[in-house]
Amino acid sequence: MRAKVVYQSTTGNTKKVAEAIANAVGCTAEPMNVATVSEPVDMLFLGASIHAGDVDLSVKKFIEGLDATLVKRVTVFGTGFEESRDKAVGIMKDLLARRGIAVTDKCYFCLGKFVLFNRHHPDTQDLTGAEEFARGVLAG
Ligand SMILES: Cc1cc2nc3c(=O)[nH]c(=O)nc-3n(C[C@H](O)[C@H](O)[C@H](O)COP(=O)(O)O)c2cc1C
Repeated sequence: MRAKVVYQSTTGNTKKVAEAIANAVGCTAEPMNVATVSEPVDMLFLGASIHAGDVDLSVKKFIEGLDATLVKRVTVFGTGFEESRDKAVGIMKDLLARRGIAVTDKCYFCLGKFVLFNRHHPDTQDLTGAEEFARGVLAG
């Protein structure tokens, strides 16, 4: 199973989760603004956060530029506020669906700190959860 992990992270929260997932699936997490998919991938883990109500433009550009013939399936993950739990993952799912790229039903979300909000997140439990989630996704 060829797995790849690509993430967008403005303040480092989603990066931590991406690195936990990459550690679990045996690859290196790659930032979205430099990552490319040039070889076939069985499972692409795609992560992002919400800033000012939307995902970063790099997320939209990355998905727009994906070669759908090289990506078998995508699993999305994100960090943010509880009230935006479904936002980043939902936006990514919609963009991927429009490209005709298959997305797994399961996604991973954990809280991400912002100033005094969600302090200490993602914490150890969040990162362990991300690892377990990723292993579960690959195990089917
Ligand atoms: C400038 C800024 C704007 C943000 N705007 C939102 C927002 O509109 N909605 C939301 O739910 N969270 C918002 N957040 C919180 C982030 O989504 C949260 O901290 C997330 O974990 C950041 O992940 P990252 O460090 O990987 O970018 C904002 C954070 C920052 C720094």
